Amino acid sequence: MSTTLPAWQDLREHAARIRDTHMRDWFAGPHGQARSERLTAEACGLTLDYAKNRITEETLNLLFELARQAQVCERRDAMFDGEPVNTTERRAALHMALRARPGDGYRALGMPVEADVSAVLMQMELFADEVRSGTWTGFDGRAITDVVNIGIGGSDLGPRMVCRALEQDTEPAPRIHFVANVDGCDLARKLARLDAATTLVIVCSKTFTTLETMANARTARDWFLRHGARQTDLTRHFVAVSTNRDAVAAFGIDPGNMFPFWDWVGGRFSLWSAVGLSIAVAVGFDRFRQLLDGARAMDQHFASAPPEQNLPMILGLLDVWYRSLLGAGSRCVAPYCEPLELLPAFLQQLEMESNGKSVQHNGAALEAGSAAVVWGTTGTNGQHAYFQMVHQGSQLVPVDFIACLQPHSDLPGHHTKLLANCFAQSEALLRGRTAEEVRAEGQVDERLVPHLVFEGNRPSNTLLLQRLDAFHLGALLAMCEHRTFVQGTLWNVNSFDQWGVELGKKLAGPIERELEGAPAQPHDASTAALIRRVCRARAMTPD
Ligand code: F6P
Repeated sequence: MSTTLPAWQDLREHAARIRDTHMRDWFAGPHGQARSERLTAEACGLTLDYAKNRITEETLNLLFELARQAQVCERRDAMFDGEPVNTTERRAALHMALRARPGDGYRALGMPVEADVSAVLMQMELFADEVRSGTWTGFDGRAITDVVNIGIGGSDLGPRMVCRALEQDTEPAPRIHFVANVDGCDLARKLARLDAATTLVIVCSKTFTTLETMANARTARDWFLRHGARQTDLTRHFVAVSTNRDAVAAFGIDPGNMFPFWDWVGGRFSLWSAVGLSIAVAVGFDRFRQLLDGARAMDQHFASAPPEQNLPMILGLLDVWYRSLLGAGSRCVAPYCEPLELLPAFLQQLEMESNGKSVQHNGAALEAGSAAVVWGTTGTNGQHAYFQMVHQGSQLVPVDFIACLQPHSDLPGHHTKLLANCFAQSEALLRGRTAEEVRAEGQVDERLVPHLVFEGNRPSNTLLLQRLDAFHLGALLAMCEHRTFVQGTLWNVNSFDQWGVELGKKLAGPIERELEGAPAQPHDASTAALIRRVCRARAMTPD
């Protein structure tokens, strides 16, 4: 099992040996150039500079040995072969098949999937073209101007993030809105600005039972009926994306308006499936295909590049190094690229729902820290908020800097300033500033010197995309998926289930009924008091 592998013990001893070495020493003299060249890898238009990490050649060798002992390549191949790598649910995890090209030959649990995937892609293409061209009309014959995706978690975060990232590439197209939260403020605020006759709703839910999504979908249906639509008109205004045909029909959505996907697609890995319908409408099907092609290029890289040049492999190993061996509880993701502002939120679900586990595949306790907290916002904004802590705080926080070689805006000077700041942050994190340097810079007040010292030795990766377009975004996101898989394999956890979300959902039902007046059920004293407080407040302020 994972942490009993000999490589873990070797890595622990090695970590203790190099823990106090400053990265500055590894960059000193001619070594620096060699280190920078050695610790740079490229694939699919992405360049990863991982030289500013607290690793030596020996660290890397030990990490690759860990990957070998944990059979990462064998388990990757099992995933690509459609074996039941989601062990608790006996399912394949075959999101790669969604971005395949004819002849790639993916099978889920032995069954070919190509025909099903192609059929749904064709259905999506037709639909996206109809909506974008105005051929698909609402109940009064006008073209659709606004599309609302109702979904949550994996049925929201991926499409929302991609639509935001590629927003600038949309030719005239319907506006896309996303509603996730069951807090009525979310749906109410968006619907208030829309015309029911020209609005189309995509109800997006793998299970079609998720409380938030179903509540929002029902409220949206009532809104259409209150704003001029008849029951029979709803077929022009509602489509569904789901694996659950019966529930879609029971909700009253025309089965001809359903875009299916399959149980071998995990929610957080699903943006490439019909869950990406809002993306196809927003950017057009050709660009959606480019997104899939970028991801497919990364799949091929992950499946075939040697570990030493394999981007997801290197990143996943570094994540485990920091989390499990150097004790870093979190990782900051800082895209120096405004259109990627929703990437950290997407990665939170991807990594934390996948690998936030404490037991291994066989149910035995995991004796190493798993899944770091992933957080962050775009640069340069983060510099003026929390980077203070990253530079001088008491925790080790590895940072992923992400930037694009080509500007996304043509405002003169902005891209240069953006990149300069990005590179300056990673340089400062690496180098720090000693007390001698502070004094040499002219600081004469000795009381201030300790405050002006930066210890440095704080690690970061810098990932450069050729440009932010559909292809490179696809490659970036697939890299993140595979990186997550590598982490999970090293920890020996099942990255494809999420039992930890169940208990809260189960307890919400009885509490909802109590808040609506049903007799009190046994709860801990704190929860019971909170429920009573709400009931009292409601009794005092009638609707
Ligand atoms: O509750 C967690 C979760 O199941 C996620 O894994 C999933 O992405 C999200 O809820 C939404 O689920 P669904 O697509 O079935 O509505």
